[in-house]
Amino acid sequence: MGKLANKIFARAVSKLNLPFVDLSNGYANNSKWHQGLIIHLASILRPRVYLELGIFKCGLFNRMIPFAEQLIGVDANPEAGNHMARSSKVRFVATTTSNFAQRLRNEPISIDMMFIDADHSREAVEEDFANFFPFVKPHGLILLHDTHPMDNAATSQERCGDGYQAIESLSRKSEQFEMMTLPWHPGLTLCRKRTAQLAWQENSSVVHTSK
Ligand SMILES: C[S@@+](CC[C@H](N)C(=O)[O-])C[C@H]1O[C@@H](n2cnc3c(N)ncnc32)[C@H](O)[C@@H]1O
Repeated sequence: MGKLANKIFARAVSKLNLPFVDLSNGYANNSKWHQGLIIHLASILRPRVYLELGIFKCGLFNRMIPFAEQLIGVDANPEAGNHMARSSKVRFVATTTSNFAQRLRNEPISIDMMFIDADHSREAVEEDFANFFPFVKPHGLILLHDTHPMDNAATSQERCGDGYQAIESLSRKSEQFEMMTLPWHPGLTLCRKRTAQLAWQENSSVVHTSK
């Protein structure tokens, strides 16, 4: 759709004053509530480049296709690629997230929005965040999953893992990014890369690192 048509469509929909329809019946009954939220964010942001670390069966990834220009999915399990919808916009990389980060050092990309959802251990979440942060555009979004397990049992590696501890320490740093966690199981953390509050006051020539 062209820009004008988009504008007219958005205005018409907003005039309908539709109530928000909650199909999840509350987060306690739907552990995938994060997907609708991430898709909604993408529908507003319209990322040029979307990166998802850990795609599993592409439950979220495929639903993101209409909203991004280019989508990259990384998963250590080569089977994950079989679930990816066919589209000229998508690319599957069958490798570990740390291997992919290594490749980016020679072939850098510029990420508008990314979702960290691979290995959920504290060490891996810290490593993924540090490795990919330099490739995120200023004011780009980094989303992290499973960051607010509901109880101790849910912090086991088979469930949410202890990646929430990485968020605990990262969120104490705030010079290069701001971070907040939605405290509903299994938890979603939203992070914006920034050094200035206003995107248009950001010095975009600076490539920041998380360390
Ligand atoms: C929780 S699932 C991802 C779910 C998916 N993001 C979604 O919303 O539908 C985690 C995935 O990460 C992959 N994974 C785990 N550790 C990884 C690593 N170090 N590198 C790449 N992929 C990894 C697993 O194979 C699995 O498919």
